Amino acid sequence: MANIPIGVIINGATGRMGTTQHMAHLLAIAREGGLKLGNGDRLIPELTLVGRNADSIKALAVAHGIKRATTDLDEALAGPEKIFMDCSATGGRPERVRKAIAAGKHIHIEKPTAPTVEEAMELARLAHKAGLKHGVIQDKLYLPGYAKLLFVRNSGFFGRILSVRVDAGSWIFDGTTQECQRPSWNYRKKDGGGLALDMMAHWRYMIDRLVSPITAVSALMDTAIPERVDEQGKRYKVDAEDTVYALLRTKDGAIGQITNSWATRPRRADTMMVHIDGTDGSASAGRFQCFTQAAVNTPEAFIKAARPGGVDLQAHWEEVPDTIDLLPPFRQLWENFLRHVAEDAPLVPTLVEGAKAVQLADLAYKSVAERRWVDVPELTL
Ligand SMILES: NC(=O)c1ccc[n+]([C@@H]2O[C@H](COP(=O)([O-])OP(=O)(O)OC[C@H]3O[C@@H](n4cnc5c(N)ncnc54)[C@H](O)[C@@H]3O)[C@@H](O)[C@H]2O)c1
Repeated sequence: MANIPIGVIINGATGRMGTTQHMAHLLAIAREGGLKLGNGDRLIPELTLVGRNADSIKALAVAHGIKRATTDLDEALAGPEKIFMDCSATGGRPERVRKAIAAGKHIHIEKPTAPTVEEAMELARLAHKAGLKHGVIQDKLYLPGYAKLLFVRNSGFFGRILSVRVDAGSWIFDGTTQECQRPSWNYRKKDGGGLALDMMAHWRYMIDRLVSPITAVSALMDTAIPERVDEQGKRYKVDAEDTVYALLRTKDGAIGQITNSWATRPRRADTMMVHIDGTDGSASAGRFQCFTQAAVNTPEAFIKAARPGGVDLQAHWEEVPDTIDLLPPFRQLWENFLRHVAEDAPLVPTLVEGAKAVQLADLAYKSVAERRWVDVPELTL
């Protein structure tokens, strides 16, 4: 039983995801003595941090006892590290991934993997042809609320699933009176901005697995706040959408509905709610909790709800209890990917799954441009 070091390049390490998720969880795995494999060996992640600013990347490395840090991605890719994680801003990701594939690195990257489905599939094919392992971050179904929703679905609780409704978003300040909570690149197309590209990357795999694969989309989008203030206090014009509405059809005949906006003030249990109605029961989940209502617990709400206090619509829902201990989502994803690389364990979110997510955004943009429903064709390598 040996300790086996495995080098991981984190490009974009100083960013929010880079620092608080990818670096933090890989360091935690190393600190805990490595990831135990089936044969008893332990895989110890060794990190190389890459960032744009020499002082910040050096400071981050020193603060966490990491020896290798650079501003030169090519220099990092020329090294012996086995895995490339790109969690830098979305814009320009395909070019960086192509370089990493050419350098023979296994690819594990943030979503969205590319701006268009064609480029996303090109990356999947390149990695596959080169015999490299590849994966994309798809974390939401590891959050307790949605993990329970998936459990409810897989138990057959719903009967025939009729519909799924995603209600997501919150108010993102424009930076004038209160600091904006999202980086300004999110609002510039050239840097990979746009809410559909950003969030369809989650809705695609969530609905595909919680309901059934999405087969058609019709979307409407808007830029509710056309001017914002950036990190330097400068005003800039927003050229990407911050509001997305979409109607969907799924393979098994369910109807889907997505309301997603960075210009809404939520009055609901969580900023990200998923509600599924089925013939035998319904469920409503946020990131942390999931509630169900079976057919036999369904109160009369058509006539009684017509008078104040006539029916309590929040009653008769039962919380799904915590029955399994879940690792934090990004920790789970890293463990899965490391096992995929080290012992060929199966991996669900490959770059093909990443491309499906980009495809939904791509076709939603097409639907808006052409003002029509668009079919979602199957993607294969
Ligand atoms: N899986 C998830 O739930 C999730 C959540 C948030 C973000 N993300 C994804 O992670 C990636 C990074 O997002 P983040 O929120 O950490 O972003 P961030 O702005 O906090 O970090 C971006 C990083 O990229 C670097 N960078 C390179 N080019 C840049 C540019 N033109 N403008 C700004 N920064 C640039 C920055 O130096 C920084 O290290 C994005 O692709 C995003 O879609 C995923």
